Amino acid sequence: MGVVVAVANQKGGVGKTSTANALALGFQRGRKKVLAIDLDPQGNLSFSLGAETDNMPTAFHVLAQECAIGAAIQKTPLADVVAGDITLSSVNIDSAQEGWEFILRDALGNVRAAYDYIIIDTPPALSVLTVNAFTAADGLLVPILADIFSLQGLTRLNDTVARVREYSNPDLQLLGIVLTRFNPRTVLSREIRVTASMIADELGLPLLKTTIRASVAIAEAQSMQVDMFKYMPRNNAVQDYKHLVRELKERGL
Ligand SMILES: Nc1ncnc2c1ncn2[C@@H]1O[C@H](COP(=O)(O)OP(=O)(O)O)[C@@H](O)[C@H]1O
Ligand SMILES: [Mg+2]
Repeated sequence: MGVVVAVANQKGGVGKTSTANALALGFQRGRKKVLAIDLDPQGNLSFSLGAETDNMPTAFHVLAQECAIGAAIQKTPLADVVAGDITLSSVNIDSAQEGWEFILRDALGNVRAAYDYIIIDTPPALSVLTVNAFTAADGLLVPILADIFSLQGLTRLNDTVARVREYSNPDLQLLGIVLTRFNPRTVLSREIRVTASMIADELGLPLLKTTIRASVAIAEAQSMQVDMFKYMPRNNAVQDYKHLVRELKERGL
């Protein structure tokens, strides 16, 4: 059974999509079968993995319960992908209707058996899409930037996790917080690491040992739709993502 990992943070620009891309490609390097699911209407993960959204079944159709997930899986040169696009912002999930949280989890059904890892990228919101991702997930990974606003947002995220655990997924595990776009040369970044570790402790969230350093290679690889691990294997941030994959495996993923 594939392990389902949701990458989430209601803030935009914190490295969710880059991390989802890196996990999908990183786990695949270890000869694992990976499915990437893009639940963000911005569709950045779909683009970075070379998936199409025109005239194709996508995550929208899966969540609208118009097609089985199998029909929405695209095999691109980089990965197996369920793509997402702007139509996701109009998906009509009625949170007054019983069972709305379980649509994705149910849709995954027996597709889970065909993969080792299923990585879900989520939108910058705590929305019906995010709750569907949290309900389908075994584990949640939270990228944050080394700034005080990121730390403030963690409390709200934690409230949503608590609600999901109570109502739809008692087994949701917090894999941890990962600091991204980190600049080890600034004093602020180093102080934030200390503060992040304190807040993480308070919330019972592990702060992962691995920190992802800032590098333009991450944006470049995504815009060129290439595998960062092949495109720039020696790059600092790419090395950091390798360590992140290793650390997650060591933690039992
Ligand atoms: N480690 C990094 N170093 C430099 N730029 C990064 C890094 N990670 C992400 N970025 C860039 O920062 C922007 C936001 O990252 P992204 O992964 O799209 O965040 P989110 O999905 O949370 O909005 C993108 O332009 C991305 O290419
Ligand atoms: Mg994103």
